[in-house]
Amino acid sequence: MDTTVQVIDSPDRLKSFRDDVFEGLSREQKELPCKYFYDDRGSELFNTICGLDEYYPTRTETALLQAHGREMADLIGPGVCLIEFGCGSLLKTRLLLDALRSPAAFVPIDISADHLLQSAAALAADYPNLEVLPVVADFTRPVKLPDKARKASENRIGFFPGSTIGNFDHAGAADFLATVADMVGGGGALLIGVDLKKDEDILVRAYDDAQGVTAAFNRNVLERINRELGGCFDIETFRHRALYNGAEGRIEMHLVSEKDQTVTVHDRDFTFTEGETIHTEDSYKYHVEEFSSFAAGAGFRSARTWVDGDGLFSLHYLTLG
Ligand code: AVJ
Repeated sequence: MDTTVQVIDSPDRLKSFRDDVFEGLSREQKELPCKYFYDDRGSELFNTICGLDEYYPTRTETALLQAHGREMADLIGPGVCLIEFGCGSLLKTRLLLDALRSPAAFVPIDISADHLLQSAAALAADYPNLEVLPVVADFTRPVKLPDKARKASENRIGFFPGSTIGNFDHAGAADFLATVADMVGGGGALLIGVDLKKDEDILVRAYDDAQGVTAAFNRNVLERINRELGGCFDIETFRHRALYNGAEGRIEMHLVSEKDQTVTVHDRDFTFTEGETIHTEDSYKYHVEEFSSFAAGAGFRSARTWVDGDGLFSLHYLTLG
């Protein structure tokens, strides 16, 4: 297999995790960046979440790709270079690749080198005619594409499934779309999954499932702090809370301290009052038209949108003039 990898150094990784934790826990409203959910255990829990009855996004988006893959492929055209931002199980990617006509190259971009290289290698083995060119990088910042990807095809299509766009606030999402526009260039396009605004109960249940998998996923970030940063969180004293913030149009996840307590992380103390929360994730929801006009702000034209029959989830094919 031919894998061009830009390895960004990791010595800073622990330091920035610690810096981010210190900074987040020092705020008036304590917070932790949601990207730290995804260590091995967190990724495993997230995969379990994707299969839960309450968590409709994964199966709904997968069904949209299955039902409309041909139409997507017709719009996208033959011989393209597909660029994926973040790299999960690649199951949705496979559905798209299977529908596309002779895709030339696939560039998955992910910050987790081990996971990326494993998934990319497995995919490359199944698609012998595809140049698979993984790039280890933070996709929220502009990424230089491998020369081979540029050579393989001038036709660049971004793929951003899963409604991960929901983790950005509106300003961050606008920046991200502008970055993608730069990367795919004129004539390029983006196929993006966006979770929709809907009945609040359905939304909250998707983030507070009966089995408590999402609760475990949320609390796992504290276990990670304990393990990697020498933290002393008593995990049992932090409860999972998911709520829909209607004014902001987002699900929020929090960890609620059940008592007054002081928690030491490495050499720093952080005090919590009973009921005080750590805000751990935002997941923004959109109306279809709201997202289309939002994308227009970054220069994208909404060429086609697919929504399931229950109006739960959307896939948008956005093009650049
Ligand atoms: C991976 C960001 C799309 O917001 O639905 C799932 C993460 N958090 N359950 C989402 C998540 C709790 C998920 N994204």
